[in-house]
Amino acid sequence: MKAWQVFEHGEPAEVLKLNEVEMPEPGPGQVLVRVLAAALNFPDVLLCRGQYQVRPPLPFTPGVELCGEVVGTGQRVIGNPALPQGALGEYALANEEDLFPAPLALDDAAAASMHIAYQTGWFGLHRRANLQAGETLLVHAAEGGVGSAAVQLGKAAGARVIAVVGGPDKTEVARKLGADVVVDRRAENFILVVKEVTDGRGADVIYDPVGGDAYAGSAKCVAFEGRILVIGFAGGTVPAPALNHALVKNYSIVGLHWGLYKQHNRQLITDCHEKLTDLAEQGDVDPLIGGRLALYEAPEGLAKLGAGESVGRIVVLP
Ligand SMILES: NC(=O)c1ccc[n+]([C@@H]2O[C@H](COP(=O)([O-])OP(=O)(O)OC[C@H]3O[C@@H](n4cnc5c(N)ncnc54)[C@H](OP(=O)(O)O)[C@@H]3O)[C@@H](O)[C@H]2O)c1
Repeated sequence: MKAWQVFEHGEPAEVLKLNEVEMPEPGPGQVLVRVLAAALNFPDVLLCRGQYQVRPPLPFTPGVELCGEVVGTGQRVIGNPALPQGALGEYALANEEDLFPAPLALDDAAAASMHIAYQTGWFGLHRRANLQAGETLLVHAAEGGVGSAAVQLGKAAGARVIAVVGGPDKTEVARKLGADVVVDRRAENFILVVKEVTDGRGADVIYDPVGGDAYAGSAKCVAFEGRILVIGFAGGTVPAPALNHALVKNYSIVGLHWGLYKQHNRQLITDCHEKLTDLAEQGDVDPLIGGRLALYEAPEGLAKLGAGESVGRIVVLP
């Protein structure tokens, strides 16, 4: 079978090699999955660079999210494959407990994209930030994989959603995602827009996958009793917030590491999958697919993702 492999760390386009490799053998509790679609994630870029919190032994095949067919049963599933046999190949391995029935309402590319970003969005907005209908939700990088999911989930929860995007070409797509207010951060100051559209109150929940200036601005336009969700640092800078500011303005800084729920409470992930499947059936969850690539084009997709140039999800269809 064909699979992309990383033999040394570096930029995806330089270090990924497409090789003919032996079919992987499932270990205890694992299954072999024929990959139907692999949704690319920022951590795939970090894995290639050797900068992710998990460093699989070299050589490894990246790809942390897939839709596939279990060999032997034919069941169509979504979930996280087991590195080092990731999703960027014709077949991958996965722990059975990390796979869930693929939503019938979604095609392979969309189904592959419904796991990490939407689970993260759901846990962030509902479990960690307790978002309420009628509240104002500000989403940074609202066009990105994680951000676009948060926009849809925020709307499904009855929130008013302000989407921040980088560039005029992204604003129309953010409106189509359902955002009530769209801010191009390159042309407008999002802090002023948030204050203006909330009559000075600020945003109740802020979903931040970017860090850096996005975080700094968020602290300036978060509402009384607001919650800033720390989701990621796609901008490359990890903020060092002033805790006295959180005290005097009476807001919360809430961290989320979705993957940790696998260790602490797997049932919550299963429950969330069922809720997301229902939302997909109702049409409230419909992952934004910004690119469909053949297997040989995977490094191009990862390069775009690493440069912050992708819109929605880039999916590889082997
Ligand atoms: N906490 C968790 O459990 C969890 C789970 C999944 C992912 N994450 C993290 O969430 C983050 C976003 O992931 P994603 O898959 O949504 O990535 P993505 O699709 O590439 O989106 C990132 C977006 O960030 C914005 N951005 C702003 N400044 C940037 C810069 N200097 N370089 C690159 N992008 C910049 C860009 O949008 P604009 O230009 O439109 O602003 C870009 O599209 C990653 O850090 C990832 O590790 C965390």
